[in-house]
Amino acid sequence: MENVATAQVLTAAEKKAARVRKFIFFAAGMAGLLFGLDQGVISGALPFISKEWGLSSSAQEWVVSSMMVGAATGAIVASFLAANIGRKKSLMIGAALFIVGSLGSGMAINADMLIGFRLILGLSVGIASYTAPLYLAEMADKDSRGSVISGYQLMVTVGILAAFLSDTAFSYTGNWRMMLMVIAIPAVILILTVVTLPDSPRWLAAKGRFDEASKVLNSLHGNAKMAADELSDIKETLKVKQAGWALFKANKNVRRAVFLGVLLQAMQQFTGFNVIMYYSPKVLSLAGFASTEQQMIGTVINGIVFVLATFIAVFTVDKSGRKPALKIGFGVMAVAMAIEGACMVLISGGNPAPWVGYVAATMTLFFIAGFAMSAGPIVWVLCSEIQPLKSREFGIACSTMTNWITCAIVGATFLTLIDTLGSSMTFWLYAVLNAVFIGLTLAYVPETKNVSLEQIEKNLMDGKKLRDIGC
Ligand code: BGC
Repeated sequence: MENVATAQVLTAAEKKAARVRKFIFFAAGMAGLLFGLDQGVISGALPFISKEWGLSSSAQEWVVSSMMVGAATGAIVASFLAANIGRKKSLMIGAALFIVGSLGSGMAINADMLIGFRLILGLSVGIASYTAPLYLAEMADKDSRGSVISGYQLMVTVGILAAFLSDTAFSYTGNWRMMLMVIAIPAVILILTVVTLPDSPRWLAAKGRFDEASKVLNSLHGNAKMAADELSDIKETLKVKQAGWALFKANKNVRRAVFLGVLLQAMQQFTGFNVIMYYSPKVLSLAGFASTEQQMIGTVINGIVFVLATFIAVFTVDKSGRKPALKIGFGVMAVAMAIEGACMVLISGGNPAPWVGYVAATMTLFFIAGFAMSAGPIVWVLCSEIQPLKSREFGIACSTMTNWITCAIVGATFLTLIDTLGSSMTFWLYAVLNAVFIGLTLAYVPETKNVSLEQIEKNLMDGKKLRDIGC
């Protein structure tokens, strides 16, 4: 009788915990929306801004890339914020800066001012893109961690699509200022929801606040034994004496984890995905779709495919795993870029058959789908899983910074590459890189599905090969 009663109480508590978790994941996932809105908004606004102010290619590259320079800096700032004031407050600061950056960009009176506010916007996006996956990884359990962080990336893609749609709506009047300002609204909502979230139990424990950590773990699991076991695993990882940079210098295994995070983010960016993201109208015009309307519609279709294909990752990442998705995704992207390059040869030869432009546009869609089901979400998942607790902020700062620096390199060189190498060679270059990434995945990337953060850390610190730390 007593057992039955206990079972019922536990079930009710667990149900409540499941609701709490869902809310937390949704609220923190909102940070992804900001990231996406900001990434999506500029490709639609740029043609209007360039026309109004007569911007050169290099000025346009700066308007696009200044945000990434800010974001790389934001990742470093976030590592201090997240370590000292916690993940939750760090997210709120990111959202507040986003409001300043987006309103300021919309009110800019010249290119310098626009670039300045896009730097602030970048700072905020750097903070959000650092903090949200980290927070989510520390709040989720091992069997749903992959899909929770992929859910965050899903919000990024929804943000991009929402920005494309709102850009399209404002494009009829050419109102680029509204395009840039309207994205402040979700940032206000983010601040209001994040206020209600608990702090990460791993951060609380690292600060010696074990009672609070235990309370949060209880509310996440609704099961006292599970919460106690997890807290004792976390305490075990805290026994390492050094932390951060000192630990990085002293411990080879920590350096290996940082190397892997940097490699993963560099691979994600050198897929060439952001070429499509930031210059999607330009890519469409290379494929022969010249009118602004065709380009806007094409960009929205790209966004829809992006959202839909990200669901593949959300549903498969904790079942079939991280590694198979990465291999398939890089393969799809390599083939799509190779064919895209071939189409460009036909197009630049003059008078191509009409199907060539459609094949090129279809390849863009395959490429987007390949990224969305693999490197897009999975790199963020892996990067927040592989760093040991005592050097987690430092390790994720290095990988997130790499994301933004390499993103800036790809964004800042695309137009120049097209001008010097030509469009086909540029796309082929990315095809080769994607093929190389399949090999690097086989050599270095671990499979971390259904393994606890503490077990991954133990394997790493025991000196297992990087590709085996999830076993
Ligand atoms: C990448 C960004 C990219 C975004 C699009 C992220 O995972 O890091 O560079 O633009 O996905 O969703």
